[in-house]
Amino acid sequence: SERTYIMVKPDGVDRGLIGEILSRFEKRGFKLIASKLALPSKEHLEKHYADLKERSFFPDLIRYMHSGPVFCMVFEGLDAVKTGRAMLGATNPLASAPGTIRGDFALATGRNICHGSDSVENAEKEIALWFPEGTLQYKLSQAAMIYE
Ligand code: GTP
Ligand code: MG
Repeated sequence: SERTYIMVKPDGVDRGLIGEILSRFEKRGFKLIASKLALPSKEHLEKHYADLKERSFFPDLIRYMHSGPVFCMVFEGLDAVKTGRAMLGATNPLASAPGTIRGDFALATGRNICHGSDSVENAEKEIALWFPEGTLQYKLSQAAMIYE
């Protein structure tokens, strides 16, 4: 089934929100199949955000993402990419509905505490970039209580 790459950004880690963000995905029914705390190089972050390298905010974005550790996660489940984005909220937290992660915990676009893959294709690229060691395969005993 579908996989998505979710990352708590340095502001989210600093603010003690790793558990909150992980917990929302866990409680929704998504299966955690990889996770780690990491201090990526600027080069690694530039690869992750390669699609944005021509944008004026790119240097600020890389500085922000390089300001501390990030917490990297891969979740698997039904419609994981689209549902993950919906759980995060809009890029600009002021436009994010209450109940979303950004809508509950952030105010500024440049401090929006979490990342989520925007397509299945990008999710697979991001998972390969952040977890070259691969993800786990296992069964949740509660799967029949989550899926009909
Ligand atoms: P990610 O999940 O982090 O990829 O965010 P997104 O998909 O909602 O937005 P996008 O990929 O377009 O931009 C990546 C990140 O760059 C955003 O999450 C913001 O942190 C930052 N960003 C995007 N647009 C702006 C902007 O106009 N100004 C600033 N300062 N940062 C921006
Ligand atoms: Mg994006």
